[in-house]
Amino acid sequence: MPIVGIDYEKCNDCNICVTTCILFRRDKTQNKIVFNNSTELCNLCGKCIAKCPQDAIIYEGMGEAYIYEGINKPETIASYETIYKFLRANRSVRLYKKKKVPTDNIRKVFEAMSYAPTADNMRSERFSILSEQDKIKNLNDAVLEAILSIPEMNERYGLIFRLTSRVFHSPVYFDAPHVIFVDSSEDSKIEATNIGIIITYGRLAAQALGLSTCWNGWTQIAMRINPKIKELANIKGNTVGVLIIGYSAEKFYRASPRSPKPIDGLEE
Ligand SMILES: Cc1cc2nc3c(=O)[nH]c(=O)nc-3n(C[C@H](O)[C@H](O)[C@H](O)COP(=O)(O)O)c2cc1C
Repeated sequence: MPIVGIDYEKCNDCNICVTTCILFRRDKTQNKIVFNNSTELCNLCGKCIAKCPQDAIIYEGMGEAYIYEGINKPETIASYETIYKFLRANRSVRLYKKKKVPTDNIRKVFEAMSYAPTADNMRSERFSILSEQDKIKNLNDAVLEAILSIPEMNERYGLIFRLTSRVFHSPVYFDAPHVIFVDSSEDSKIEATNIGIIITYGRLAAQALGLSTCWNGWTQIAMRINPKIKELANIKGNTVGVLIIGYSAEKFYRASPRSPKPIDGLEE
């Protein structure tokens, strides 16, 4: 059990863990707070660790808690205006420099992805990356074949791929230097949502590192049409998220417009 228990040398009996999680309770006979580690209910969310003022929760195999200025006031780390501009600047980039992304920065993107929330803190997803252009090309060819084998998809994307094939070696991936995969074998109806959030964390982290990305739904669709394609990406799970990443060769002078969305239930 990763939450081992309570360090009574540090615990000041403040009760915060008890009001935070049902697995903590006051034991009347011992007159102290105890952690019920006999159940499988703990999903390792770590809130007890994060909220204990005395740092008295003993845990193992969960990584390290992270202490930084602004933890209780994240709005002092980045204002709404900053975040809004950052989000508006996020673009799906479809033109990349050949330059590879240094491994340190790739790791940072995966690190941010690993902190994305997942339903019940399941964290069943597997991360991987393909950076060899010949492997990306093989995947590209298989994805193209699968997509174009479906008449509706051919109608929607046939011309686009014929045109982009003139420009790109691997048009499905716009010749980006890396393709990131997040896959899961978890048979859960919510898994695609988990992966969507993970990919989004990765995209935002990438943007903060001066990198650009584009979600690749085509690969996800193609893997459903022909599950053998997963082997080319060394993927086993049935739910997949795919992201290309690299340095943008596109330049933007303004954030794209979008028509406003009506909000039902909000007063004028
Ligand atoms: C789930 C999802 C799948 C996507 N799949 C693809 C794709 O296969 N190929 C592609 O070029 N863009 C893909 N996109 C990018 C969208 O086309 C893009 O987000 C949209 O046109 C808005 O443009 P923007 O991201 O630059 O604001 C995908 C986006 C999402 C959210």
